[in-house]
Amino acid sequence: MPDVDFLKGELEKYGQAHLLAFYDELSPEEQRGLVGQIENIDFAKVLKLYREASEGDRDFRDVKASRGNEIPCGGDPADEPVLEPMECTVKKEIGPDRAALYNKIGERILENGLFAAVTMAGGQGTRLGHDGPKGTYDIGLPSHASLFEIQCERLLRASRRFGAAIPWYIMTSRENDGDTRAFFREHGFFGYDAGQIHFFVQNMLPMVDFEGRIVLDSKGHVKEGADGHGGIFAALESSGCFDDMKRRGIKWVFVGGIDNVLLKICDPFFIGFAESSNAPAAAKSLLKRSADEGVGVFCRRNGRPYVIEYTEISKEMAGMRDDKGEFVYGEAHILCNIFSLEGIQRIIDEGGGLPYHAARKKTKYVAENGETVMPEKPNAYKFEAFIFDAFEKLEDLAILRVDRETEFAPVKNREGEDSPESARRMYEACKGASEY
Ligand code: UTP
Repeated sequence: MPDVDFLKGELEKYGQAHLLAFYDELSPEEQRGLVGQIENIDFAKVLKLYREASEGDRDFRDVKASRGNEIPCGGDPADEPVLEPMECTVKKEIGPDRAALYNKIGERILENGLFAAVTMAGGQGTRLGHDGPKGTYDIGLPSHASLFEIQCERLLRASRRFGAAIPWYIMTSRENDGDTRAFFREHGFFGYDAGQIHFFVQNMLPMVDFEGRIVLDSKGHVKEGADGHGGIFAALESSGCFDDMKRRGIKWVFVGGIDNVLLKICDPFFIGFAESSNAPAAAKSLLKRSADEGVGVFCRRNGRPYVIEYTEISKEMAGMRDDKGEFVYGEAHILCNIFSLEGIQRIIDEGGGLPYHAARKKTKYVAENGETVMPEKPNAYKFEAFIFDAFEKLEDLAILRVDRETEFAPVKNREGEDSPESARRMYEACKGASEY
């Protein structure tokens, strides 16, 4: 039996006694679940994140929910970083001989079984509002292929074409892990060798309301959220997946999201480009459409590769152009990255942990009177780490600018831009271009 009085005393120290306010109304099973959650919370860490977010939040009060309103947690505002443009290679400008060489190098890596893929599918897909893991979403293709199936088709084609197994590691969260695994089982793993698919679960952090109270989303349950796609390195390590990659002698690991239907997972050209670069990682970029497009762009910060969010970049820097008339800070990050095993090792060796950013989100909560409330406006912070913050731990990063039309059709919103409809249109327009 847990010592509930002791736990209450501990919670009071952190101003979180409300978490046990309805304890006596719960069934024994619910009581155990709630106590288990509470015992796993690092209150000092969570409240530090809350303090940093609320201090940095003053300018963000009127920003609407979801993307683009992240508040960096921590860091000393007095440290003025030196920002510089980041060099990039434009795929279209590479000559045929070099292109053939990159393809050949990439094909060898695939043929020799030195390549693995990671799909980050632990997000909540809040903007899409789909009931279930985002990867299970059907964008309305004639085949009704889900986002997971679209990616799996590419991996299948590549492993058949190059005659080698491609281990596929899929990151889920505690919220969607069961449903994701069940979906794969129900669909016979889409014809992929089930032994090559490895699910691993990322960490969660409790959500905190704007008064610093950890949110209960039911009387016996703390509202937790996945800790962002930057949680991947810690999760790869703690799950044993990184060791598995080492055991298999993998050299390059592709890491992408689940929601870009044109994502080329096993692109020999990109793999060959990365291998030839001598950098520990490579990333694809797109030229941003306008000075104020809401995308993070590559730059160097204090000499290290970095992605600066559009909320952080000055208007002047965002609009700066070079003598060819191109944006100086114009290479947008599209969550299409490849890491060497040494690159991942370096990130893990530096602690794996990345800085957190707080996003203001709407989340259901239990009020003091015990009623469940669905707020109309954001009411709590969700803490997330971003994968691109890991680039700063590497001394270099090779960037390859590709075309939006053939490589980037994300499913983010229910309708309009970056919606299932726009993604379907782009997918149908260039099926052949995204073979792997
Ligand atoms: P987004 O940041 O676009 O989040 O994730 P999302 O969950 O898809 O959608 P919103 O913001 O809630 O509307 C980009 C990719 O990173 C993964 C997502 O699953 C998606 O593939 N991701 C995001 C994670 O794996 N874990 C996270 O904690 C966050």
